[in-house]
Amino acid sequence: MALKKYIALVFLFVASVNCKQAYKICVAEQYLKACEEMLEVPTKSKAVLKCIPARDRMECLSYVQQRQADFVPVDPEDMYVASKIPNQDFVVFQEYRTDDEPDAEFRYEAVIVVHKDLPVNNLDQLKGLKSCHTGVNRNVGYKIPLTMLMKRSVFPKMNDRTISPKENELKAFSTFFSQSCIVGKWSPDVKTMRTWKSQYSNLCALCERPDACDYPDNFSGYEGALRCLAHNGGQVAFTKVIYVRKFFGLPVGTIPANTSSENPDEFAYLCADGSKVPVRNKACSWAARPWQGLLGHNDVLAKLSPLREKIKQLADSGAATKPEWFTNVLGLSEKIHHVADNIPIKPADYLKKANYTEVIERGHGPPEPVVRLCVTSNVALAKCRAMAVFAFSRDIRPQLDCIQEASEADCLKNVQDNGSDLASVDDSRVAAAAKKYNLHAVFHEVYGEKKKPNYAVAVVKRGSSIKKMEDLRGKRSCHNPYGSFSGLDAPLFYLINKKLINPDQCIKNLGDFFSGGVCLPGVDKAENNPRGDDVSNLKKQCSTDNSPVKCLEENRADVAFVSSADLPNFDKSKYLLLCLNKDAGGTSWFENFETCNIAMAPSRTWLSAKDFLSDVSIAHTPLSLAQLLADRTDLFNIYGEYLKNNNVIFNNAAKGLETTEKMDFEKFKAIHDVINNCGVA
Ligand SMILES: *[C@@H]1O[C@H](CO)[C@@H](O)[C@H](O)[C@H]1NC(C)=O
Ligand SMILES: *[C@@H]1O[C@H](CO)[C@@H](O)[C@H](O)[C@H]1NC(C)=O
Ligand SMILES: *[C@@H]1O[C@H](CO)[C@@H](O)[C@H](O)[C@H]1NC(C)=O
Ligand SMILES: *[C@@H]1O[C@H](CO)[C@@H](O)[C@H](O)[C@H]1NC(C)=O
Repeated sequence: MALKKYIALVFLFVASVNCKQAYKICVAEQYLKACEEMLEVPTKSKAVLKCIPARDRMECLSYVQQRQADFVPVDPEDMYVASKIPNQDFVVFQEYRTDDEPDAEFRYEAVIVVHKDLPVNNLDQLKGLKSCHTGVNRNVGYKIPLTMLMKRSVFPKMNDRTISPKENELKAFSTFFSQSCIVGKWSPDVKTMRTWKSQYSNLCALCERPDACDYPDNFSGYEGALRCLAHNGGQVAFTKVIYVRKFFGLPVGTIPANTSSENPDEFAYLCADGSKVPVRNKACSWAARPWQGLLGHNDVLAKLSPLREKIKQLADSGAATKPEWFTNVLGLSEKIHHVADNIPIKPADYLKKANYTEVIERGHGPPEPVVRLCVTSNVALAKCRAMAVFAFSRDIRPQLDCIQEASEADCLKNVQDNGSDLASVDDSRVAAAAKKYNLHAVFHEVYGEKKKPNYAVAVVKRGSSIKKMEDLRGKRSCHNPYGSFSGLDAPLFYLINKKLINPDQCIKNLGDFFSGGVCLPGVDKAENNPRGDDVSNLKKQCSTDNSPVKCLEENRADVAFVSSADLPNFDKSKYLLLCLNKDAGGTSWFENFETCNIAMAPSRTWLSAKDFLSDVSIAHTPLSLAQLLADRTDLFNIYGEYLKNNNVIFNNAAKGLETTEKMDFEKFKAIHDVINNCGVA
């Protein structure tokens, strides 16, 4: 008895100690399960970890700041964001390095390599030379040289406001160097890229395939830039140290030297002060990208050793098989999984010692261009500001700026008056808003796995004889609620447009057409039926559950009018779509909703004023952000709930952003007008 009690006490004691000492690691909620699997991994260290789920890495930063979590694995760019949070006490206390270079201070150091006899003794003299780069937008081959060169007065100014920031950069390089090889995707917009590649074609002249000027190119990438220097007429190459050493057959960190046909004695590093250093010697760099690492709050320093040991042991134990937690929870990778302790350091200082802060903050010369997004609530303002810092840290320009107005209409007016650049409008009102405020649509949300606009669709049972709307006369229907595009506007417009019902008293006529009975949720609400018409037939097929899915399942209707977004809720083996957009009618599989539907539904759309900045420039920041986060919602989930609020800036259901070329706003307006004219509130 006494022994049992004793054991119980010991157990309680151990449990409470463990509990007190549990280190809380913050993880994007999509990886919570992987994190919990990590907790099961046996290690020699008895330190206990606990997984704290957050929306994404950005929310993790505020969790760590507020002590809801103790630490989170981050990239240098996240450290920059962290350093900008007011009143934080963050420290970087462990670095993630490679096995090849476990003692290197930085992940990579940016260097300039030249032929040893090149007659230059300061950086200004790089003007007019032939240059070799890794590729567009990359760190050591593009961003870092640009950051350093733009400080020199001989480098062309990049503040021409009639062209976009990116074009300013390309134009400056194109003017400064006589020929270069800078491959890659110069713009997210294909048309723009083509124009630039012909306009600034000397930036592709040194490539293996100047016409393509894209990957793969023998003279692009870290090693390719050196090949370009040694064998394709290049005079200066921008790359990183480790590749220089490999290229010239010199040992790297723990890896012994290989033989190389390249002669290291012919080449030298060009240092920031204009001096040259043989490539056999220690390199002089001008900036570096720091390692990724672990960021915690200041209180973890008091109990750091057990945590550090635990992380190292986890990294070692996952290195062979690389389970999901290894990459998605700890942020390690095939190459980078050597965990090194560093003297704890503030994130701002960590970046500064690599000269990386100025690389992140790289501008284009005053006045810096901004794109101003208009929002209508405090929480949207907070989210917009968070997006602005995040996008800035990841080199997306122009900078996002956030303007708050009281309402959607105020925002539209503000854009018209050049107080902001972008405001959003929902539903069918885009065309009307564009006319009223002299604006035009620039980009819109897309939805679902396929990242497409939504469509209004009609769902019928497989095996039914229904092929056309006419076949539905006298039958029964279920709808998404009153006021929805898919449930009411689109089917009603269709019926009126095809002259199947009369536009006067269209709601009543809808009930007469589907004389078997209708379920149109909300039709009997006072605000939707101010005259108190008899709408009993339009409620007849409803039950306690208003969902059109249940309605079809329970055989209360022959057709359901819903959105393509609702289709995953139906059993697709039992139903088909009715192709009302085709004159011949017919049915098709759910997967084909883009070609078999009633009409495309309007998405939330952003409008800008005519004749100010070009669309490419205005849309560049939001579209680049959406592209960057397309498969990295763990970094920043800009869609979905924000601080417990729904539909903040973007709809929760959105999955991406697209330019508006395929949207027919006039059609939306026509639908809207017909519906309004027939007395629907
Ligand atoms: C790349 O260029 C180098 C130097 O011109 C040449 O030796 C090599 O064969 C090329 N490699 C490929 C894959 O084209
Ligand atoms: C030498 O060659 C081996 C095999 O190709 C490679 O794994 C290693 O990284 C090379 N070492 C250096 C310093 O480039
Ligand atoms: C940072 O810049 C200074 C001055 O230009 C340079 O001497 C130093 O080597 C740079 N640091 C790194 C890590 O490249
Ligand atoms: C719009 O406002 C911005 C910011 O105040 C200003 O720089 C720009 O010149 C204005 N554009 C026009 C066309 O008035």
